[in-house]
Amino acid sequence: MGKIQILPESIVGKIAAGEVVERPASVVKELIENSIDAGANSISVYIKNFGIAEIKVIDDGEGIASEDVLLAFQRHATSKIKDDRDLIRISSLGFRGEALYSIARVSKIKIITQHITENTGTEAYFVAGTLKWQKPAVTKGTTIQITDLFFNTPVRRKFLKSSYTEKAHIIETFQNYCVAYPEISFSLFIDEEEILNIPRADTIYERVLQIFGSEIVETLKFKTISKDYYKIELFIGEKPKEKYKKLQLIFVNRRPVREQSIVSTIYKAFKLNYPQFLIFITVPPQDVDFNVHPAKKEVRFRNCQKIHQLIFKMAEFQYKSSMVAEETVQWQADSSYLEQISVFSADSAEFEFLNLGDSIVVVKQPQGVIFLDYHAAHERVNFEKILNKMKEKIAKLVFPVIVNLSSDDYVLIKENLQMLQELGIEAHDFGKNSIIIRAVPEIIQYADIAGIIESIAVTIKEEIDKPDFIEIKRKIAATIACHSSLRANDRINCFEIKALLQELKKTSDPDHCPHGRPIKKFFSINEIKKWFSR
Ligand SMILES: Nc1ncnc2c1ncn2[C@@H]1O[C@H](COP(=O)(O)OP(=O)(O)OP(=O)(O)O)[C@@H](O)[C@H]1O
Ligand SMILES: [Mg+2]
Repeated sequence: MGKIQILPESIVGKIAAGEVVERPASVVKELIENSIDAGANSISVYIKNFGIAEIKVIDDGEGIASEDVLLAFQRHATSKIKDDRDLIRISSLGFRGEALYSIARVSKIKIITQHITENTGTEAYFVAGTLKWQKPAVTKGTTIQITDLFFNTPVRRKFLKSSYTEKAHIIETFQNYCVAYPEISFSLFIDEEEILNIPRADTIYERVLQIFGSEIVETLKFKTISKDYYKIELFIGEKPKEKYKKLQLIFVNRRPVREQSIVSTIYKAFKLNYPQFLIFITVPPQDVDFNVHPAKKEVRFRNCQKIHQLIFKMAEFQYKSSMVAEETVQWQADSSYLEQISVFSADSAEFEFLNLGDSIVVVKQPQGVIFLDYHAAHERVNFEKILNKMKEKIAKLVFPVIVNLSSDDYVLIKENLQMLQELGIEAHDFGKNSIIIRAVPEIIQYADIAGIIESIAVTIKEEIDKPDFIEIKRKIAATIACHSSLRANDRINCFEIKALLQELKKTSDPDHCPHGRPIKKFFSINEIKKWFSR
């Protein structure tokens, strides 16, 4: 007897839903896209219990005609394409008619909508995709309220990450559309708290400013290039090193996407160590295929080469203008620095060192020389002190520090105040995306506390999938150590070097900084002699 059978519709729906609705943020993405396609000027999103209890999206778009409401929840039901010619020049965000169908299968949905040309609208309620009731209603635009997400797919629910990971994904998704659609006003509420509320803006520049703040935007340069209906707009800069948060966003025809080849081209073309960028690529709709990923997160370009060439062209312009000047200045500074190399000596001949700049010193020892990275050495020493007695010596801050954070970092930090407490940082929620710090381990009381908190948020985000708290604590201690350690430009004297070398000996790994980079290299006199065949 044959064993192949056609799956019942109820199972097919759940499988499809798995592809489109991976997590609460996917629902947010699909609903926002629908609102944008409906021509909304304003979109509000409400989340409860990281999207599991409720996701509600309210828009003021064109609404759905009464006769179409039930159709919208059927598979492959879309108003956006009609034939295969439309499919190759898609200008809307949606096109498969699958999102509402898939979401409905794994949740309970209430929709209230009214088409702009009609006098009455519709309210309807579905459970697992089945219509439970429907009645006339009067409204403007569309409100879709999803409750009890994944109630009938418990395994998927179980596979969700922690609540703050899911929230961070939601905020990130939300922000991406805010960036791409400055002409729309957006607001986001999570558990009744306003996370973001941004009025419409006239330009992408203004919107980027609204979302990321002037401190970040000032580090970015704006560049644009266009050729044969291809256009690239780029905000690019070097990430301030002490702030690890990565900002690298790619939009293709206003759709946020992941595209590794573009990231690597930007690295290659601009030759920056830690580039941060927002790139907006506009190509004719027929030259790009979004139909390669179930959640449309990836793209295939017809002419990938062209995009890469344009990015390289932009980078060339940059070298011809400002960068050349910057490089020259840098070079001059370096050479004059070389002339100033100084040999200090303390305790007579016993302690001589040569400062090579960039935190490297060469220290004379009885048996040879040590090349020492004093920033890395200090990091190791501080790291162990912090890790071991983080809570031993706490300094109450006379002037508490208020740290303003991006919305996603704010959520993460707020949920981890207890962990900060364990690290000796007394922090409290201060509302409106800010945290107040009242006490810190003594060792960091004069350090850049805001920078430390931001880096901690990044660390928590990176480690979130591996709930290894010891590792998180180690990473946070490393971050704090890095922030509170001597910098390349800090002056160091022979006494400090001596003390540092002594302290270093007491640590568990005097050869590596907490990030794993080497701290020192010793060359014995005998080894050096061999270089000269002696
Ligand atoms: N907020 C909304 N305002 C107006 N119409 C909507 C809204 N949401 C959905 N619709 C209508 O319902 C249809 C089905 O939506 P759905 O998201 O399932 O499919 P789609 O957007 O056409 O394609 P995709 O599955 O790629 O998102 C849409 O084509 C649109 O006509
Ligand atoms: Mg859609």
